[in-house]
Amino acid sequence: MSIKVWDYLVEYAHEKKQINAAIQRVLDSGWLILGNNVREFENEFARYCSVTYGVGVNSGTDALFIGLKALGIGPGDEVITVSNTAVPTVSAIVSTGATPRFVDIDPATYLMDTSMLEDAITKKTRCILPVHLFGQCVNMRDVNSIARKHRIAVLEDCAQGHGALFYGKKAGSMSAISAFSFYPTKILGGFGDGGMVLTRTKRLYEKAQRLRFYGMKKTYYAIEHGYNSRLDELHAAILREKLKHLEGYILKRIQLAGVYDALLKDTGLILPRTAAGNRHAYYLYVCRHAQRDRIIDELKQKDILVNVSYPWPIHTMTGYRYLGYRRGDLPHTEKAAKEIFSLPLYPSLTGSQQMNVIDTLKSIMKRLA
Ligand SMILES: Cc1ncc(COP(=O)(O)O)c(C=O)c1O
Repeated sequence: MSIKVWDYLVEYAHEKKQINAAIQRVLDSGWLILGNNVREFENEFARYCSVTYGVGVNSGTDALFIGLKALGIGPGDEVITVSNTAVPTVSAIVSTGATPRFVDIDPATYLMDTSMLEDAITKKTRCILPVHLFGQCVNMRDVNSIARKHRIAVLEDCAQGHGALFYGKKAGSMSAISAFSFYPTKILGGFGDGGMVLTRTKRLYEKAQRLRFYGMKKTYYAIEHGYNSRLDELHAAILREKLKHLEGYILKRIQLAGVYDALLKDTGLILPRTAAGNRHAYYLYVCRHAQRDRIIDELKQKDILVNVSYPWPIHTMTGYRYLGYRRGDLPHTEKAAKEIFSLPLYPSLTGSQQMNVIDTLKSIMKRLA
């Protein structure tokens, strides 16, 4: 039986009754856009993250874009982030008219190397955008102290960080504004696109609310240029049901990661390293090996599918060549892109499926030794 990179059907089977009932309630309510479910989900998710305000939007990309716009980022500004991330981190920056600037990653955790931040700051730098990649947080103590010193804003990209903790603080609660994705594969994923902006600041909250709704505060009257980026009632209702299980799902992810850690530790694979102060939420269980492509091929032959996030650093992609980076500029990012891959890990992965992955990997690794 094939083992997928990700599979929502088993989870859905467990929650079907509640989710279908929530969908039915929305359809029967007579209200489809920006209603009670969106408001309640904004409150519930903000509370889960220990933040005051939430603004539901269309996607994680829009949450980043609207968050940056709310901070006033635009043409002429520079935003520091990493090249080892999903393309939307960078495309959201570019959509504001600002220029992304990259720092390299820590090769052990694949997260932003915060020791490189100060050297990347220029007169144009307006924001640092750390990405809490694969389910664990960037060192936000470093990011925030550097940002304070240079009086620049911080926006956390939490698309992969739902429920991750840094010294007890939730991802998304450690900066002026943060952005989440509810894309189906995410730790908290819906059945379509969705995202949320979180903030503690009323001014940023109200600005983000206007930006997602044509710049309007009052219906039909725009007080500024805005966009259309609304989370809809159906998705909010589904996400409210899924939020009830989020903590349990994260604990399951941590347990599955513990099994991989224990049983793969002497195989020659480099296993994920948890950064200091983190509760890793294991959005992805990222391994590393110089012969990655061969390992992936052999797993595929046994019907085990794995994921590579990300095979191409963004600064080397055709679409972003104009930024002026060259191969060799971010050596740790570039090397990791050739060697990392992630094993199947999601709450509905069964013990026997996981043992199948482990046994197959062990025999591949023995042959490679
Ligand atoms: C790190 C990161 N940032 C941003 C996004 C964008 O989220 P969405 O796909 O909901 O637009 C994603 C999802 O792919 C992501 O992984």
